[in-house]
Amino acid sequence: MARLKKHKVLIRSAAIKKRVKEVAHEITGDFAGERVHLIGVLKGGCIFLSDLIREIDLETSLDFIALSSYGKNKDSSGQVRLLKDLDSNIAGLNVIVVEDILDTGLTLSYLLRILQQRKPKTLRVAALLNKPSRRLVNVKSDYIGFSIPDEFVIGYGLDYAERFRNLKDVCLLDPKSEAQP
Ligand code: IMP
Ligand code: MG
Repeated sequence: MARLKKHKVLIRSAAIKKRVKEVAHEITGDFAGERVHLIGVLKGGCIFLSDLIREIDLETSLDFIALSSYGKNKDSSGQVRLLKDLDSNIAGLNVIVVEDILDTGLTLSYLLRILQQRKPKTLRVAALLNKPSRRLVNVKSDYIGFSIPDEFVIGYGLDYAERFRNLKDVCLLDPKSEAQP
């Protein structure tokens, strides 16, 4: 039976769990008495969103959007494409975009531009990870789980060529895995 290889752990699942609760608590405080509408950025943001939303003590709703800026490898193509749009209107809602990682910022700046045009009441971003050293465009996240160095990471929703999203920890990509198809 094929099993997942051991990758070097960067952030353990227990630390992620603790931090997700803290971020949710901050969101709960910031939007006290209001409803928040979470928009998960597929596919990487779906695991973070599903943990985060259950720790938010407010009325919530959710939707998903799919964008692509990466091909099969580790480098951004720099071109963002909208693969799946939202199901519903966001006008007048407190929108929080839930992303796995803020890297160059190209994906998020594109996304924020199109969402802002749809007149949400507020528009914020929650990113599990942040790689500040890689930023190409000036975009910031209101809620950040962890800032990390310039390393390619996998797990907890993040993939390498669609693999490893199911790792419980955020790990560094094992160089041997890169060679495999
Ligand atoms: P950006 O447009 O460069 O900010 O890229 C954001 C997207 O690139 C993220 O939502 C991820 O899907 C992907 N990405 C960036 N860095 C990594 C990484 O270290 N591991 C896996 N995916 C990454
Ligand atoms: Mg992503």
